Amino acid sequence: MSAKILVFGGSFDPPHKGHQALLKAAEEKIHPDRVLVIPAYRSPWKKDSSVLPEERLQMAKRAFPEAEISQIEMRARRRVYAVETLKRLKKENPDCEIHFVIGSDLAARFDEWKSPLELRKLACWWTAFRPPKNGKIPSFFNSLSRAMPDISSTNLRTDLLMGDEVSGKMDSRVLEWIYKRGLYGVSNLPRLKKILKPERLFHSISVARLSRKLSSVWGVDPFEAALAGLLHDTGRSIPISGMKPYCQKRRLRIPLLREISAYQPILLHAYISEDISRRMFGIKNADILKAIRHHTLGALAMGKLERLIYVCDTCSEDRNYSEAAELRELAARDPQEAFLECLNGKIRHALSLRGWIHPLPIQVWNSLIL
Ligand SMILES: [Fe+2]
Ligand SMILES: [Fe+2]
Repeated sequence: MSAKILVFGGSFDPPHKGHQALLKAAEEKIHPDRVLVIPAYRSPWKKDSSVLPEERLQMAKRAFPEAEISQIEMRARRRVYAVETLKRLKKENPDCEIHFVIGSDLAARFDEWKSPLELRKLACWWTAFRPPKNGKIPSFFNSLSRAMPDISSTNLRTDLLMGDEVSGKMDSRVLEWIYKRGLYGVSNLPRLKKILKPERLFHSISVARLSRKLSSVWGVDPFEAALAGLLHDTGRSIPISGMKPYCQKRRLRIPLLREISAYQPILLHAYISEDISRRMFGIKNADILKAIRHHTLGALAMGKLERLIYVCDTCSEDRNYSEAAELRELAARDPQEAFLECLNGKIRHALSLRGWIHPLPIQVWNSLIL
């Protein structure tokens, strides 16, 4: 009888108890002679991680201490498709049976994999018992007859960022590594506590929670939504009297800096928040930085994340003006209408104060309705 190799590949961003349960169930069923866990350098399925490949490799080592962690995809330092990896394994182990295990959601998308016909011949395919959320599992898949915990890496990353309880979903060794290395923004909340007043921190968390909740309806990554929400008011850590000097010292590009400084200096905090997020919190993601920068005055041609933060800042749970709840409800079903309503409300509020109004929100309004 030929030796069996069980292969389990993934981005492991981060690895969780669902991954561990899947591998364990496969091992119990297949009784392999070798277990190879292969972390991807770049996943063909997902956009690039905020965490370096080396960190994902270290997490995989901690999540699967009994398995052999293969670096064949990591060492390529590029996106490697499963068909390449399997061909190589087959060449190196011509007399072995290769068994490949994947989650049911990926199994249901097997036709979208590179060279599915070839893949099918290269290995014996296994997946979880749990039915996929979308699609159907191809009939050649073998099913592992055990229910797996329903855990999503995407949700887990955002849980970690928000300081939510994750111990039931992750191995403690992986969690220790995440905290030791400050991955997934786990150090952001403790740092925010140090620089923001309690009510401002509460508001920032409220904006982050609402942005995360609405992210799927708005078509935005939940982690990015929550991160932008958390950091959008970091500029409020600077006293109002210090905002103009801060902007000048840091040479921030601000439309009508002189007028804003004279009539409404508080508006400068959005631009300062962007600067602080970049310098103190290490944010490089351009969409997140733009969302933070434009959360008060807006900008022409705002993207989805910018609009989401703009709206959530106006109607987060901590806002207690009469229309806030209505706006939240609108934002949950009609992003475009909610953004227009929010912009309209801000302009009306500015007019009601009978003071100077920055022209940018008016320009944004005109660009949307003409
Ligand atoms: Fe703000
Ligand atoms: Fe805010």
